[in-house]
Amino acid sequence: MENSILIKTVDLTKVYPMGGQSITALDSVSLTFRKGEFAGLVGPSGSGKTTLLNILGSLDAPTKGSAEVLGEKVETLSHKKAAALRNRHIGFIFQTFNLLPVYTAYENVEFPLLLLGLPPAARKKAVMDALDWVHLADRAKSRPNQLSGGQCQRVAIARAVVKKPSLILADEPTANLDAENSHHILHTMEDINRELRSTFIFATHDEKVIGHLRRKIVLVDGKVAKDEVIKAA
Ligand SMILES: Nc1ncnc2c1ncn2[C@@H]1O[C@H](COP(=O)(O)OP(=O)(O)OP(=O)(O)O)[C@@H](O)[C@H]1O
Ligand SMILES: [Mg+2]
Repeated sequence: MENSILIKTVDLTKVYPMGGQSITALDSVSLTFRKGEFAGLVGPSGSGKTTLLNILGSLDAPTKGSAEVLGEKVETLSHKKAAALRNRHIGFIFQTFNLLPVYTAYENVEFPLLLLGLPPAARKKAVMDALDWVHLADRAKSRPNQLSGGQCQRVAIARAVVKKPSLILADEPTANLDAENSHHILHTMEDINRELRSTFIFATHDEKVIGHLRRKIVLVDGKVAKDEVIKAA
C-alpha cells in the first residue's frame, strides 16, 4: 500500500440477515483515507456509518469486498490479530460508550495502556493527562453509574485518545455533550491530529463536528453519495 494511505476499502459490502430477509447496511463502498485526515461520515440514521466504522476498526467483517487498515486486510484477520491491531493502533469511541461499569473513570481510561504494557508511572501520567483533556480529572474515582451521560462520553473519549493511536474512530462523540464541551473536545482532537498526525474518522449528525471536518463523506442507503474536501475558512 502506498506509504501515506492508511485505509483503503474496495467494494465494501455488509449485509445483515433479518429473518427471511436481509438488510444491506453497506453497498460497494470504495474509499481511501490518508494519514492525518480529519474526516467525517454523515448521512441519515441507518445509512451505514456505524457499520463502516466497526469494519474499519476490525470489530466486524464485511460480507463482500475488502478493507485494508494499517496494512492489514480486516476480512482475513484472525480474532487475535484483529485484537492486536486495535490494541496497538486504534482508538474507538462507541456510540454507546461501552465503559466497563465496575471500573472507575481512571481505570476505564487506563485499560488500553495495561494492554500495551506501559510502566506504571508513564501510565498514570497519560491517564491523568487524558482525563484532564476532557475536564474530568476531578472525577477520576467515579464509576459510570455515578457520572452523567455526557461525562461518560468524555471518559470514552479519554480512553480512545490515551494511547495516542494512529487511527481514532469516533461514533457520534459529541451526541451527549453541551456546546462548550463539544468545542473543547474538538479542539483537543484537532491538536492531537496536528501534533501526532493521528487520523480521525467521525460518524456524526452534529453540525459542530461537521464544522471542524476537513473531509465530508455522505452515506445514503449504505452508498457513498458525496465525498468532498473542505477547505479551511
Ligand atoms: N447487527 C445488526 N443486525 C441487523 N441489522 C443491522 C445490524 N446493525 C445494523 N443494522 C442495520 O444496518 C443499517 C445501518 O446501520 P448503522 O448502525 O450502520 O447506521 P448509522 O448510519 O450508524 O445510523 P445512526 O445515525 O442512527 O447511528 C440499519 O438499517 C440498521 O438497522
Ligand atoms: Mg450509528
